[in-house]
Amino acid sequence: MTTGTRSQGDAMRYGYFDDEHCEYVITRPDTPLPWINYLGTDAYFGIISNTAGGYSCYRDARLRRITRYRYNNVPADSGGRYIYLRDNGTGEYWSPTWQPVQRDLDSYECRHGLSYTTIASARLGIRAETLYFVPPGETLEVWRLRVRNERDTPAGLSVFSSAEFCLWDAQDDATNFQRNYSTGEVEVAGGAIYHKTEYRERRNHFAYFACSEPLAGFDTDRDAFLGPYRGWDRPLAVERGESSGSIAHGWAPHGSHHVRFELAPGETREVIFLLGYWENPEDGKFDPPGWPIINKALVRPVIDRWLRPETVEDGFRRLRESWASTLSVLNVRTPDAHANRMVNIWNPYQCMVTFNMSRSVSLFESGISRGVGFRDSCQDLLGIAAMAPGLARARILDLAATQLASGGAYHQYQPLTKRGNDAIGSGFNDDPLWLIAGVAAYLKETGDTTILDELVPFDGRDDTAVPLYEHLERSFRYTLDRLGPHGLPLIGRADWNDCLNLNCFSDTPGESFQTTANVPGGQAESVFIAGLFVLAATELADIAGLRGLAGDAGMYRAEAEKMAGVVMAHGWDGRWYRRAYDHSGQPVGSAENAEGRIFLEPQGMCVMSGIGIANGMAAKALASVAEHLATGHGIMLLQPPYRRYHRELGEISSYPPGYKENGSIFCHVNPWVMIAETMIGDGDAAFGYYSRINPSAREAISDVHRCEPYVYAQMIAGKDAPSYGEAKNSWLTGTAAWNFVAITQRILGIRPELDGLRVDPVLPSAWAGFTATRRFRGATYEITVRNPDHVRGRAVRVLADGKPIDGTHLPLAQPGATVRVEVFIGPEHSRPSGEGVGRR
Ligand code: BGC
Ligand code: NOJ
Repeated sequence: MTTGTRSQGDAMRYGYFDDEHCEYVITRPDTPLPWINYLGTDAYFGIISNTAGGYSCYRDARLRRITRYRYNNVPADSGGRYIYLRDNGTGEYWSPTWQPVQRDLDSYECRHGLSYTTIASARLGIRAETLYFVPPGETLEVWRLRVRNERDTPAGLSVFSSAEFCLWDAQDDATNFQRNYSTGEVEVAGGAIYHKTEYRERRNHFAYFACSEPLAGFDTDRDAFLGPYRGWDRPLAVERGESSGSIAHGWAPHGSHHVRFELAPGETREVIFLLGYWENPEDGKFDPPGWPIINKALVRPVIDRWLRPETVEDGFRRLRESWASTLSVLNVRTPDAHANRMVNIWNPYQCMVTFNMSRSVSLFESGISRGVGFRDSCQDLLGIAAMAPGLARARILDLAATQLASGGAYHQYQPLTKRGNDAIGSGFNDDPLWLIAGVAAYLKETGDTTILDELVPFDGRDDTAVPLYEHLERSFRYTLDRLGPHGLPLIGRADWNDCLNLNCFSDTPGESFQTTANVPGGQAESVFIAGLFVLAATELADIAGLRGLAGDAGMYRAEAEKMAGVVMAHGWDGRWYRRAYDHSGQPVGSAENAEGRIFLEPQGMCVMSGIGIANGMAAKALASVAEHLATGHGIMLLQPPYRRYHRELGEISSYPPGYKENGSIFCHVNPWVMIAETMIGDGDAAFGYYSRINPSAREAISDVHRCEPYVYAQMIAGKDAPSYGEAKNSWLTGTAAWNFVAITQRILGIRPELDGLRVDPVLPSAWAGFTATRRFRGATYEITVRNPDHVRGRAVRVLADGKPIDGTHLPLAQPGATVRVEVFIGPEHSRPSGEGVGRR
């Protein structure tokens, strides 16, 4: 593994990769944007920025928000898990995390690791380091502060903590002040602050904020802590060096502890703060019964346990071990350091975060507007099936249970209730097909066909339960039941591209393109859905085959063939695949159009599904991508962008050119093209595209890219935007899963299939090979790939434990076995099968 080098002299960098510890180390606090990390792996989650900004929630960022956060605030990212230090000798105070006080620090270092963050700094000879993490299986977060006196004289210090509570429903909390300025309630007992708003009535949950040290004081009323007309940067309590013992009633409940101590030269003091969430049994809510005081009998032992340093140490160790074990599923050693660290650390990490959070909590997703997206989560499964098969299985069943009997899907559901969101509704006609793709990914990884027999209801109504397999059939049927004038699938509200609203025709300012009633009998068709249908129908045929349903399998395959024919007849524009037909039958994404002549999605999706590989259309389409859409920063979604609003196209033309769906480098789609390139045998093109958007490879241009260099962002501004090359919407994006699939399964070629593991790399010709370790269905595969002559080609010889095998498909090994796999790459013409015929 390569370790990044610290290069503070480089004006474009704000830190470096520490691959050995799986951390990104930020060396100055004023990053171009707050660079965040995620805490929590099970049910209690939070985001934390490199200056300790952020918030936490339990399961559902909208309905069960624990701490408050103000999006789009000024200054940016104010509000979070704050600790203040005060030198009681001089009265000077500062933030060891730089924010919110922003007083200069003599040193600063933030380490974002796997589900934990440490922020360390020094000022005036006082070193402070805070570790933030959520112990596995717990519903609490630990802030472990270590303060060390590096002076040669004793130091009298005060520590103040600060966490602002949210009144649970984040939407209501941010809007309904006539009510919620009068609902807040707290208790203080045994040094712990309890936030119990609405506990008196229907809620049985509360939050707590506890401290390991004897308190010099506390505050629970935000305004008493801050003082009138003051912000987080200069709280009155801190300035004064004294808390006021306030008890919040209404207004803004808040938690702050004051701890005072003296440190001898060289002495270190550890202070543990716990911020947690607890649910009491309904019949044991109060103590004494009937009295409006929280029964703390169940939570107090948990608090006491986690306030002990050894418990914290052990919890942190378990967290690290659990990540090490999760990531050990796949480890690669390639000639490219950026690929290595993304594949081994950051890309799978982002996949897990994206899977856990769906599209709810980031600095670009407020936790209020979106729950769990149906298509989003189905695609997230592709990124985590190998690391977390159990979670994948549970999610599949949850998703399928929101499916409608028509085969259609709610576009989103709330994680807390698992019910479809009526507000957004359904009718995005690609949604159901992604369920097939997600289930296929799970089956290929695990071989667990029992999931297909699980009884799953429609729309959460238990009396409608049928085996999961039938849900997949309905997904398939949903498309065929909705074909348009050319025999292509009707698009409905939109397909993968949420902004291609071809039946919407909205003229009303501010109206939502997602929910506005569409024109009756919407006729617009999607070439993209056709491609996705071919892919999904082929997967379904394989799944049917696995169930011994040869007839079904044949039918699915025949329908896939037929649809591929329709695409070739009506979806082909001469040099690339068209995108769609609008409501009046005009092509979208055609050389006939003045704007939006070529779109990226159908090129990626149609080639991925195999359409046009045999007759050269695929190669032509990819050459057009290279010619019209590829840039040095990645591949744009369309060209030329829409410069005026097209009522017949919808939201896509509402964005300025080069942003979002209107011609940005939409990173989610780039890996489809990488995969497509591998399918026509071009590893140089595939890896070239991979490297252009690889965040680590872009670290050197952090001033341009601006988002975190350790995770993918949804978009990078396209060449038509003034901010060309600038990333936005980092973290929660299908980009994570798809890039992981593209690099690991297609470029490196380590690909799970229903009946075993295939190793079929399509490498850049500059590489002499690579090695990898992959755990798969209980066995371990030690893989060595060699391309000694640096040819453009594919596997010509594969040995398993020294014995030649036919093709690239490895026989299933016994669980517990270790298989030594050797793959030799040769020139493409020496490859026996017809697959992978080059385009030039
Ligand atoms: C964004 C899309 C997103 C959609 C979700 C649109 O404004 O541009 O990327 O999928 O909102 O509702
Ligand atoms: C982001 C959404 O979460 C996803 O579902 C959609 O496919 C893309 N944007 C493209 O519009």
